[in-house]
Amino acid sequence: MKLHNIQFKLNGEKVSLTVEPSDVLLDVLRGKLGIKSPKVGCDRGDCGTCTVLMNGKTIRSCLALAVEADGSEIVTLEGANTRKWTQRLQKKFHEKNAFQCGFCAPGIILSATELLEKDPRPTKHDIKEAIAGNLCRCTGYEPIVEAIEEAAREK
Ligand code: FES
Ligand code: FES
Repeated sequence: MKLHNIQFKLNGEKVSLTVEPSDVLLDVLRGKLGIKSPKVGCDRGDCGTCTVLMNGKTIRSCLALAVEADGSEIVTLEGANTRKWTQRLQKKFHEKNAFQCGFCAPGIILSATELLEKDPRPTKHDIKEAIAGNLCRCTGYEPIVEAIEEAAREK
């Protein structure tokens, strides 16, 4: 099998590695690069726990091939300090105790980051839509939506 050399920016740092054409981005992040915040949930695009930002847009890393990351900029929760909104959201969720088990947290925070980077004054409806693809089994979503609203209000 032909191996590929890929390079991308991961949380602000350049990384360079060799992957197989069929390697999945989620597995490479977790297994080869030690990035554990994107979680393995459904592994088929349904739950959003594997969400990362690629060039500022959320993607399901369980559905992306590692070769697709070549030349891109990837941000995970480990790189929260590289994004203003990610940092604020993380702080707000913590202050409000908005998560319980926290399994959904990295994906929800990155989906909310994408939203607030596009629209820093979202409505409740916008917020619910933005996180609609991120399943949370614990909270019923209300505290999550409130935390995102409050993070957006804080200037
Ligand atoms: S693990 Fe990727 S969407 Fe569920
Ligand atoms: S806090 Fe447990 S899945 Fe969301």
